[in-house]
Amino acid sequence: VSLKSFNTFGVDVSARYFAEVNSVEELIETLKLSNAKTLPLLFLGGGSNILFTKDFEGLAIRLNLKGISEEIIDDNQILVTAKAGENWHQFVMFCLEKNYGGLENLSLIPGNVGTSPMQNIGAYGTEIKDVFGSCKVLNLDNFEIETLNSDQCKFGYRDSIFKQEGKGQYVILEVTFILTRHNHKIDVEYGAIQSELEKLGIINPTIQDVSKAVINIRQSKLPDPKVIGNAGSFFKNPTISLSQFEALKQQFENIPGYPNGDFVKVPAGWLIEQAGWKGKQIGNVASNQLQALVIINATGNATGKEIFDFSTMIIDSVKEKFGIELEREVNII
Ligand code: EPU
Repeated sequence: VSLKSFNTFGVDVSARYFAEVNSVEELIETLKLSNAKTLPLLFLGGGSNILFTKDFEGLAIRLNLKGISEEIIDDNQILVTAKAGENWHQFVMFCLEKNYGGLENLSLIPGNVGTSPMQNIGAYGTEIKDVFGSCKVLNLDNFEIETLNSDQCKFGYRDSIFKQEGKGQYVILEVTFILTRHNHKIDVEYGAIQSELEKLGIINPTIQDVSKAVINIRQSKLPDPKVIGNAGSFFKNPTISLSQFEALKQQFENIPGYPNGDFVKVPAGWLIEQAGWKGKQIGNVASNQLQALVIINATGNATGKEIFDFSTMIIDSVKEKFGIELEREVNII
């Protein structure tokens, strides 16, 4: 079965077996069957953070679990739960239509709800850990359904238990967010949001305005995966020591950095651009013209290996120029 339409890079690989499940019962049934055959497993969500470098010799399972439910907590707060297979942006739009606040800064992020906790998706000043209530997971060791709270998920920057010790152990079935109904916390700290709101002539933004601003910013520099294959930021923004940052500053006086205690987070996009990669194309693969951190399937015909090799060239060249080792954010299969 071709996985081309199940990964936003649009890489044409195939899975030996493929199943789509519409309920937790179907999922468990399918897993029991595959266990008997001892097949390697791969769970497909929105496919927006994955790079296939070869065919998958196992069973790919697409989680088509759908549904949204709500539960009022108090005067201001509401729990909103979405099943794993709900599209992330449609879910954000659903919440904004109901005037539930908390997810607006995360508008237009590709992918599904079920994969959002894995890398603790974040943008424009918000991470899902800020509004996360809990998630229900299927433990693959015993097929029990468990509920994990925020602490148990061990969220970090683009990180969680699902990428660490819990890797391969859990399937996320649904996620519950704690949102606001009236007293919304408007977060427009991120410079780009402020300037976008100014451009729109908005002084007292609503959560819907913030969403609009975020959508405009994203559309202005991030390619739409439906048009040009990509997986958003390909690398994490690296964190280096303050002393290393100071030393680099001597040599590269314009180097941007966001200090955090004894560490500084440096935008990988800047490093990649300075290393000469912005807009550069080799074969079918390129670094995006408008945001160097995004690698694109420029012709639509790139193989996963080509994209991977391109990313290795970027890592090597940034390492050579700045002594900083970029880490891939995208899941390599
Ligand atoms: N920059 C450049 N050249 C570039 C790109 C960026 O110089 O080609 C520098 C600029 O100094 C700019 C700074 O990098 O001010 C930050 O750029 P941007 O605001 O575009 O954000 P980012 O750090 O590159 C991160 C996330 C994005 C998220 C944005 C906004 C990571 C790995 N990426 O990117 O997330 O949308 O912040 O919050 O942390 C994603 O994960 O797929 C993703 C798109």
